[in-house]
Amino acid sequence: MMDANAASAVADLNLDPYWMPFTHNRYFKQHRPLDRLMASAKGAYYTTVEGQQLFDGLSGLWCCGLGHGDLRITEAVKRQLDTADYVPAFQVGSPATFKLTERIASLAPGDLNRVFFTNSGSEGVDTALKMALAYHRLRGEASRTRFIGREKAYHGVGFGGISVGGMVANRKMFAPSMIPGVDHLPHTHNPAEMAFSRGQPEWGAHLADELERLVALHDASTIAAVIVEPLQGSVGVVVPPMGYLERLREICSKHGILLIFDEVICGFGRMGDWFGAQAFNATPDLIVFAKGVNNGTVPMGGVIADQKIYDTFMQGPEHAVELFHGYTYSGHPLAVAAAHATLDILVEDSIPERFGALGKLLEEGVHSLRGEPNVIDIRNYAGACAFDLTPLPGAPGLRAVRLFEDALKRGFLVRFTADTIALGPPVISTESEIHALFEALRASIRAVA
Ligand SMILES: Cc1ncc(COP(=O)(O)O)c(C=O)c1O
Repeated sequence: MMDANAASAVADLNLDPYWMPFTHNRYFKQHRPLDRLMASAKGAYYTTVEGQQLFDGLSGLWCCGLGHGDLRITEAVKRQLDTADYVPAFQVGSPATFKLTERIASLAPGDLNRVFFTNSGSEGVDTALKMALAYHRLRGEASRTRFIGREKAYHGVGFGGISVGGMVANRKMFAPSMIPGVDHLPHTHNPAEMAFSRGQPEWGAHLADELERLVALHDASTIAAVIVEPLQGSVGVVVPPMGYLERLREICSKHGILLIFDEVICGFGRMGDWFGAQAFNATPDLIVFAKGVNNGTVPMGGVIADQKIYDTFMQGPEHAVELFHGYTYSGHPLAVAAAHATLDILVEDSIPERFGALGKLLEEGVHSLRGEPNVIDIRNYAGACAFDLTPLPGAPGLRAVRLFEDALKRGFLVRFTADTIALGPPVISTESEIHALFEALRASIRAVA
């Protein structure tokens, strides 16, 4: 229960000045939902200001895959704070940052061995797009300026990211300012062909051939890069069909188009391997990462570039800057310290394998919801799963909001997007916690039927 001091602090709390991101601000502030005001986080649970324990069904926002407050990470950050609070990333560096890039490169597939730091996934996406454009220009193919994204994609909220992204609500307000010359592949979610698939759907590899159609339309000489999430997370866990990413890779290589994997959710273990690239057996030219790289402890994102891309930039006078791009907080020492500690845990505790094992429990649990009222599709892969609900007539999204609120009352924090419920619990979740999660969701589904 909330103690008296906490109760009065919350009673006095002015909610108005905070413009909450991706939130129904008016609804939130009107309802003052105390079960959504978090006081602390530890392990797989948040504790609300009321003292209620909430199981963290999405590892924060897909970022705290090891759970919260692992002392190995938090102590490393505290030590770093006492050693060097900040070191610029332009023209100087620290050994720990160089060492971190070596460690990240060693986990990445193929020749992806050059690491650039940003502070978020959105910045990582825009960085990768800029690298792709400049790479072609430096090679004398300045006409390659188009990007190909994909419907339903989420690539963050920068102008580059929303331009190649495919979630309409994130795009429509900003249409006039999006980068020009972007086209989109079709998404791969077709319930008529793949509803209730377990793991990768067997149908859909041919959708990659749509890239050939776009090449025929625009000509390869105008296309810089294709960007996709290996598994689409934010739209609600859309798993790539078998053979689809491999086919995209082939077509990109054939036409000299760079392939960018946005692995902001997939990277660092959740797919049962280090990256989606290895899990799905397709090596891109650039990988965007964030979130899991340091368990969401301190903002950090970045891009891992193939050696040929980096080498292309290394020309001109040696004293000249090769890439006019970077952020004040690129490779912030606290983020770097958290990343080293996180990578230690990922390796020592075999976290990718453990996400694979968690995936078996998730698959069993989420598919047990088949046949419950209004459940019209279920998807899963390794540490991620989701189910879709029939929208309430005339009020799309409302059934999922109600389910979200009902699940909170039962002690489970899940993620909704439109009428989809997405789950990506921490790898430390126990079998009984996963069982309890799905029994609570079963009850919530029935409660909102
Ligand atoms: C695939 C993908 N790309 C980019 C982003 C944006 O990351 P950030 O919110 O750190 O800018 C996200 C965030 O969820 C994501 O899932």
